[in-house]
Amino acid sequence: MPKLNALFSPLKIGSMELPNRIVMAPMTVDYGMPDETPSDRHLAYYAERAAGGMGLIGLEVCSVDADHRYQQHSLGLHSDSQIAGHKKLVDVIHAQGVKVQPQISHPGPESLAPFFKQIQPMGPSVIRTETTKQVCREMTLEEIETVIELYGEGVRRAREAGYDGVELHAAHNYMMLGSFLSPLRNFRTDDYAGGRFEGRAKLLLDVLARIRQKVGDDFPITVRISGFERESGGREINDTQRLAPLLVEAGVDCFHVTGGVGDANITQIITGPEFGAGYNIAAATAIKQAVDVPVLVVGQNMDPIEADAIVAEGRADLVAMGRALLADPQLPNKAREGRLREINRCTLCQGCVDIMTTEFNGAGCWVNPRAGKEGEFPLAAAEVSKQVVVVGGGPAGLASAMYAAERGHSVTLIEKDENLGGAFRLASTLFSRNQYFLDYLINRVGDLPIEVRLGTEANETLLKELEADSMVIAVGGRFSSPAIDGDQADHVLRGQAVLELVKRGGQGADLAIGQTVAIIGANLIGIELAEWLARRGKRVHLIEPSGRMAMPAGKKRRSDHCKNLDRLGIPINTGVAVARISAEGVVLVQASGRESCVPAETVIIVGFPEIDSKVVDGLVASAQLPAERVHVLGDAGGFGLSKKAVQEAMEIAYSI
Ligand SMILES: Cc1cc2nc3c(=O)[nH]c(=O)nc-3n(C[C@H](O)[C@H](O)[C@H](O)COP(=O)(O)O)c2cc1C
Repeated sequence: MPKLNALFSPLKIGSMELPNRIVMAPMTVDYGMPDETPSDRHLAYYAERAAGGMGLIGLEVCSVDADHRYQQHSLGLHSDSQIAGHKKLVDVIHAQGVKVQPQISHPGPESLAPFFKQIQPMGPSVIRTETTKQVCREMTLEEIETVIELYGEGVRRAREAGYDGVELHAAHNYMMLGSFLSPLRNFRTDDYAGGRFEGRAKLLLDVLARIRQKVGDDFPITVRISGFERESGGREINDTQRLAPLLVEAGVDCFHVTGGVGDANITQIITGPEFGAGYNIAAATAIKQAVDVPVLVVGQNMDPIEADAIVAEGRADLVAMGRALLADPQLPNKAREGRLREINRCTLCQGCVDIMTTEFNGAGCWVNPRAGKEGEFPLAAAEVSKQVVVVGGGPAGLASAMYAAERGHSVTLIEKDENLGGAFRLASTLFSRNQYFLDYLINRVGDLPIEVRLGTEANETLLKELEADSMVIAVGGRFSSPAIDGDQADHVLRGQAVLELVKRGGQGADLAIGQTVAIIGANLIGIELAEWLARRGKRVHLIEPSGRMAMPAGKKRRSDHCKNLDRLGIPINTGVAVARISAEGVVLVQASGRESCVPAETVIIVGFPEIDSKVVDGLVASAQLPAERVHVLGDAGGFGLSKKAVQEAMEIAYSI
């Protein structure tokens, strides 16, 4: 096991001494109190992250303007009355020996002021912002002066609250500083003119000067900046290289290099698998040549071995991790102790963001349902250790066994197959990053004192013999798909045949289907199947009778898939009736009544798992336990994604 000596070596940002080079990237989780101070939920969430052993926590956005919130439940540092609330958070993090710095920002065009205060956001120029769909107005010089003072006061409060430094947010061509800096957003013609480098840089320099006036020279300041904006007409890397030394002269102690611009779906900031690992490193390395202060890099730096190499090779001085620490706050400790296979890795599923817009209760994590719920589900053993029998070794069963064993219960896991993983093995073939999660669950089940019985049917005799106090039924569902005229033809695959196809392909065998494929059903399974086939050279056409695609994924994951279909050249027809399947392909009827045929040598009808009542009822009866001690979850309790299965597994384990 590599020692990761570079990653775990100390470093100073200004006067701030860090024990290692892992920094938690700022993530607005939206758990704040109505007065924009940290909530108890925040304290529990950050306490658990601080216990994970990173050197520095980058706290989420804190607005410096009482009129301008960033998110509905985000934080503020715009009033002295907020200092005490922040101090509590600082104490919780410091108790673990970890440093913390808040991200100081004025939301500018991205402000939620229209919704909270019925006032218009403001920015360098008149801009329509995609995140809130609002138009901001151009600020006067007097207003700019006021905002400069607000930044200074915000940082003064941060210091008074005990923070170890601050991060000024000037990235992504959004919010106040990022917007002034970007030629894509700044169209002014005065001293802050967007057409001139000096004009775009002026607000950031003015703000830095005011901050230094307020807090002196030895309070560390990091600036988060896009190395380049990845948009035509946006800032290029030479702009940042020219700016960086000026910022150091103005008192900046560290650069946090990100990339891209903000858009409605923050696609360049919180990236999907189409962005490779470490996609901002080149920009960070280039900026390192221009300055002597440390450079921190963010963006899919999720593998500790790669992170160590980044530091060891001098491509950046520190490595920021965002989603990786939502998924597993213990990542730094596990990396330092060489327990890499125990890391619960981020799968880039976009769930952290999609959960915010579907559940309206702040950020969460698909592969770690405790994220943001640490207070409700503390890491503590159950009062009484019980015998728990889990039937089914898919994600719901594996996660149930893991959580129950972690709570100190005695667990037996029964799986009728010879392998663990269930339907998730196929899901991991289609969306390869799922494999990380499957490996994690299987490793955990192997490491914990769980008795695993493979190739074993759960029946009444066995269940009696195991003397369970509680039983968890996680046997998955029965694959079901709609009947369609012509679906009995030889060129039509459905149900088990589709699963076999994926299995064959996953093992590298010839797919043995036609070159042209029509897929009926574009839920998340159908979409991922289409992408997978197209990547294997098939010409695929998707058909979805409902108007919606990629359900039940959220907006951000769906938009990733829209782009994938585009790139892979997969046409999709939604909101169409399927009249029949013919020898030539699939006959569609448009809403207008027009009939057309999607030509296909092979037709796949995608279904979804349904509750297999016969199996589930049989197991419930065999359990011979009171109803409250028998739990049915995952697809056995109704179709859902792995998120549903894992969340239910955790909740049930805590109820036993
Ligand atoms: C839920 C969530 C909230 C975020 N909030 C912020 C924020 O408040 N400020 C910011 O600059 N970046 C924010 N980000 C972006 C992260 O700091 C980071 O740049 C991004 O997630 C890419 O890093 P990663 O690949 O390690 O996750 C957020 C990311 C996530 C997932």
